[in-house]
Amino acid sequence: MTVLELLQATTGYFQKRNIDSPRLNAEHLLAHVLGRKRIELYVEFERRLRESELRPLRELVKRRCSGEPLQHLLGAVEFCGRTFRCDKRALVPRPETEQLVELLISHFKSEIAFSRMIDVGTGSGVIALSLAAEFPNAEIVGVDISEDALVLAGENAERFDLADRVRFLRSNLLESVPPGFDLIVANLPYISTEDRQSLSREVLYDPEAALFAGPRGDELLQQLITQAPLRLRPGGRLALEIGIGQSDTLVAALVEKNYRDIWTENDYSGVTRFLFARYG
Ligand SMILES: C[S@@+](CC[C@H](N)C(=O)[O-])C[C@H]1O[C@@H](n2cnc3c(N)ncnc32)[C@H](O)[C@@H]1O
Repeated sequence: MTVLELLQATTGYFQKRNIDSPRLNAEHLLAHVLGRKRIELYVEFERRLRESELRPLRELVKRRCSGEPLQHLLGAVEFCGRTFRCDKRALVPRPETEQLVELLISHFKSEIAFSRMIDVGTGSGVIALSLAAEFPNAEIVGVDISEDALVLAGENAERFDLADRVRFLRSNLLESVPPGFDLIVANLPYISTEDRQSLSREVLYDPEAALFAGPRGDELLQQLITQAPLRLRPGGRLALEIGIGQSDTLVAALVEKNYRDIWTENDYSGVTRFLFARYG
């Protein structure tokens, strides 16, 4: 079988099993097995594949069809132009979160370039490390309640040579964190435990602690809104990724706690997804 024939056959197989973006999945997995960039497959379409190359691919195709996320099979995810290590120790970073980082950069570039920032619920470290790469003079901390996630974040920091600039530590929200931050950013779990049944198979491969906050979904965000004023410098900013339908309640909580300059932004699908405010 040639590279092209294999891609066509695998695409068809994925299609029948309702895998999203079947051709893209097939290309990523084949490129991974062959140790090539995806784009390099295009100049090899006519090459015949050996059995030793097909065997590992079959295994990955089987696992993908049983719902395992593509990023777990590749062990990697693209985020803000960098390739991060990705596995079951932390949430697979989502495109919405890339948008959160882009919004921070576009709105606050000059304000946060020399600042102290903390990423709460850092997971694989994608937000903290992307900000560290963008702002070489900023001091950045990432916290998480999951020891596994923190180990993965540390590996990603090493990968980008950022381990001396980004400190990761274990903390339940801001409990173990000293005051004095200019920016608190968080993509915390915001799914309601009641919505578990409606989630896709892929999503359920993410760690439980990365998805669910409680019966309402906004419990951790509400706690963070309460804790943040004691950790922010006067005029410091809070930037949150939030769930569908949570903005009104969270804005009301911010107003009640005397935050100011409160505004929301939509994600690319038109959902109110990001919340910004400052305190003091
Ligand atoms: C939705 S994931 C986001 C991970 C990463 N920031 C990203 O955007 O890909 C939420 C993260 O919050 C962490 N987390 C959950 N509860 C927490 C808590 N009480 N304190 C700190 N981190 C928590 C989870 O372990 C998980 O890594």
